[in-house]
Amino acid sequence: MSSSSTIESVLVENRVFPPDARATEGARIAGMAAYEALCQRAASDFEGFWADQARANVVWSKPFTRTLDESRAPFYKWFDDGELNASANCLDKHIGTPVENKTAIVFEADDGTVTSVTYKELLARVSQFANALKTQGIAKGDRVIIYMPMTIEGVVAMQACARIGATHSVVFGGFSAKALQERIIDAGAKAVVTANFQMRGGKELPLKAIVDDAIALGGCDTLQTVLVYERTASAWNRVEGRDKTFTEVLQGQSSECAPQPVGAEHPLFILYTSGSTGKPKGVQHATGGYLLWAKLTMDWTFDIRPEDVFWCTADIGWITGHTYVAYGPLAAGATQVVFEGIPTFPHAGRFWQMIEKHKVSIFYTAPTAIRSLIKAADSDEKVHPKNWDLGSLRILGSVGEPINPEAWMWYHVNVGREKCPIVDTFWQTETGGHVITPLPGATPLVPGSCTLPLPGIMAAIVDETGKDIPNGSGGMLVIKRPWPSMIRTIWNDPERFKKSYFPEEMGGTIYLAGDGAVRSADRGYFRITGRIDDVLNVSGHRLGTMEIESALVAKTDLVAEAAVVGRPDDVTGEAVCAFVVLKRSRPTGEEAKAIAAELRNWVAKEIGPIAKPKDIRFGDNLPKTRSGKIMRRLLRSIAKGEAITQDTSTLENPAILEQLAQSN
Ligand code: WT7
Repeated sequence: MSSSSTIESVLVENRVFPPDARATEGARIAGMAAYEALCQRAASDFEGFWADQARANVVWSKPFTRTLDESRAPFYKWFDDGELNASANCLDKHIGTPVENKTAIVFEADDGTVTSVTYKELLARVSQFANALKTQGIAKGDRVIIYMPMTIEGVVAMQACARIGATHSVVFGGFSAKALQERIIDAGAKAVVTANFQMRGGKELPLKAIVDDAIALGGCDTLQTVLVYERTASAWNRVEGRDKTFTEVLQGQSSECAPQPVGAEHPLFILYTSGSTGKPKGVQHATGGYLLWAKLTMDWTFDIRPEDVFWCTADIGWITGHTYVAYGPLAAGATQVVFEGIPTFPHAGRFWQMIEKHKVSIFYTAPTAIRSLIKAADSDEKVHPKNWDLGSLRILGSVGEPINPEAWMWYHVNVGREKCPIVDTFWQTETGGHVITPLPGATPLVPGSCTLPLPGIMAAIVDETGKDIPNGSGGMLVIKRPWPSMIRTIWNDPERFKKSYFPEEMGGTIYLAGDGAVRSADRGYFRITGRIDDVLNVSGHRLGTMEIESALVAKTDLVAEAAVVGRPDDVTGEAVCAFVVLKRSRPTGEEAKAIAAELRNWVAKEIGPIAKPKDIRFGDNLPKTRSGKIMRRLLRSIAKGEAITQDTSTLENPAILEQLAQSN
């Protein structure tokens, strides 16, 4: 891979790839005229458009009569007098149709072992687990934390919660005990569903022991039960009365469980994500609108067909794993691959090998994974995708961060063999599913651009006052009208919800995405330029700079002050760079290395290994204005290794810049 400056130089990309006959033929939205007709309909009859979609794509146990309630905006409600069950929409719906005996999930374990379940079998397993949850006293409205590896059981646990109307909150298996404890407390969880260990890259990593540590940190007063899936044969520590194994709670449970109807606005899940302050936000999604979106975007964005084999590589701990592993593919009646391991084990050709082996036709992954596999293939021919038959592929997808045109072209040529459209899907934890994305059978593709909003998504680029910015100039990405799968609130913090997403200066009802964007002068295509708040995107994972700063200063015996910024990284997109002032004198040489290592491990313990700073620089001080504000833009330049050309006249201590620039 080339340096980041080369990547930037090719960021403006002029090549256009129109869909070929293979992509348009039989596509649900075939050609731009069909796309525009849908947009037109949504614009002229907004509620009618969404009501039709909701009736056609969701099975309602009680039909809705109200489509959109804006009376308490921005607390929008969709289809709110309707009732449904999300699990019934993913499983029961297929019973009695040809889908019932179709493979729902092909699971490939870290060591390559494959197991699969049909829709009928999955329904039986979800129902059994739902009955087990009920026996443990979990009922509609209760919160359940799921801290599980990528397994069929992880999907079963999510679906089982949905089946009984319990609200799940999945915590990524890479998060620390501290992060887990905060989420258990904030969600007021009654149960934690976990596994004894998880397998990643041939290594057995503890999960249950981290749950124990989280609970030992205190404050988890609502928690009654810990359910443990024994993923491996290794022993784990059992707390009598609190911990039960899956085998124990499933014993004697019926494989039938009537799905609990819930109101459309009932919280299906809470998923924590980073914001611009220290505390993660519990993004709350509603059952009806979210489910509609999961189903609809499988149809629109992936043009999913009965014979497809769909593979989304995301972990269920992230929103992508919710919408495009746990719900969307099942609602669409698709066969999907679920993968436990990592892309580089036992070798960096694992993804390509799995595509060949399972005849994957739709492959959806993150730019960071592509970039790391490009690097691997460049240095070792044996793991280059050319060594595998990827002829089953029909559509490729990208998600989580901007994809640089260079990586896009490599993906297009070496993985898609120049035959597969790439859908560069822009969305967020808060949007529930895709909002700006190409449609494979319609949109001419431009590398590095997520192209155009889905029909009914009123995306725009505006200035601070909400005024539209002309094409060709950069501004803030907003969505001017609500949409069914949008975030409903921040769990326990409605004020923060309003403040974070619906700025008063724009009238208080327009959704602010938090990203900068620009539309191309010729086609009006959107290109995302990155976050405009203090949120970093490292390997497609969202991290708050303040969150990492809080973690660093929590090391009170050592750290006096810390400032965290992002800097560009060829593989991970962005890397975490921390500037630290210690309570003792500034360390240098070996001592600085040792303290940096200690701080890295500390951050891994406080948040999780994904938040570990790549660079740590020590200073006697931080660059501050005379009023004491840290000048982060200067730190961003230093982190990038750029010469400081900005105005530094308001700086209290200009000499510090030189010291920080050298202290690497
Ligand atoms: C942030 C949301 C989308 C689900 C996974 C991440 C960035 C996401 C793209 C894309 C450019 C993208 C944005 C966004 N992002 N997709 N296709 N092109 N940027 O969800 O953790 O909530 O992060 O990821 O910055 O705001 P998330």
